[in-house]
Amino acid sequence: MKRIGVLTSGGDAPGMNAAIRAVVRTGCEAGMEVYGIKRGYQGLISGDMARMDVRSVSDIIHRGGTMLYSARCPEFKEEEGVRRGVQSCADHGIEGIVVIGGDGSFRGARDLSLSGVPCVGVPGTIDNDIACCDYTIGYDTSMNTIMQMVDRVRDTTESHDRCSVVEVMGRRAGYLALNAGIAVGATAILVPELNYDIERDVIERMRRTQKTGKRHFIIMVAEGVGGVEELARKIEQALGVESRAVILGHVQRGGTPTCRDRVVASQMGSRAVKLLCEGIGNRVVVMQKEEIVDLDIFEALNMKKPFERELYDMAYEISI
Ligand code: ADP
Ligand code: F6P
Repeated sequence: MKRIGVLTSGGDAPGMNAAIRAVVRTGCEAGMEVYGIKRGYQGLISGDMARMDVRSVSDIIHRGGTMLYSARCPEFKEEEGVRRGVQSCADHGIEGIVVIGGDGSFRGARDLSLSGVPCVGVPGTIDNDIACCDYTIGYDTSMNTIMQMVDRVRDTTESHDRCSVVEVMGRRAGYLALNAGIAVGATAILVPELNYDIERDVIERMRRTQKTGKRHFIIMVAEGVGGVEELARKIEQALGVESRAVILGHVQRGGTPTCRDRVVASQMGSRAVKLLCEGIGNRVVVMQKEEIVDLDIFEALNMKKPFERELYDMAYEISI
């Protein structure tokens, strides 16, 4: 391939810039022309793209967000949108694309590949909810941000003998809630993957810890469970503990990426370009058991990701 594109799509994630940098530099080093496509599939369809050189990605490795901007493009879920994307590639001489995004973005990459534009997916989302991989770019930064924010919430929760019911992102997945919940010593963690009973899993647990002298509480709730205001009210009514709902929001998706996110993003971006260099498309680059591997995009999209049940049970054992 002589000319490739790179785009970021869906919700942004810290570390996407490090992946873009790796794609551009690996591509340039291999003698290819690399085009940065703006705002995901939207920019592909409209032809909003520009050539990038090695210096165009200077000073971005430490920045959150994505220098290529990102968007959700409903049009790309339709045949006509994909057809326009393929046409745009032909118009601009783009022979392959590195798609950095979540599983929806991978579906777009699959559709493009099927239509003759080889794509390689790189997992970028704070949610860590892509079935085929253990780790997604942005997840580590987001977990650490949540941890730091909740540590602050904890200070004031403790001063006032309160309960803080914290909602964290994750869409329909509870990985952020579970791992950050453990890291902040939450008394209870509610995730959409597992059934829960408020009385048994929250109130009764709090009551038990009160008996051993606990006076302030963090309850971690994944957004896929929701209802933090109502839960705070129930806790106050049942236990007489003054409670507050805290919705962390988009602060979880920004900020300077951690070392792990920068390194993994660099590895994945570089690997994706090496595949395209060899003329290999229709793949996703993923991390499995701490190793960077690549998988067939169709197989990858059909996989199921087991929830970390043992980790969840351990969290409950020690949050007493
Ligand atoms: P997020 O989870 O942040 O919404 P995704 O990566 O799941 O991000 O989706 C981003 C974009 O991928 C969508 O806006 C759309 O352009 C494209 N996309 C999503 N689902 C599909 C699909 N089934 N087929 C083709 N493209 C899709
Ligand atoms: O997929 C990333 C994510 O931040 C989810 O955790 C969350 O559900 C969603 O995107 C929020 O999207 P928006 O930025 O459109 O509010």
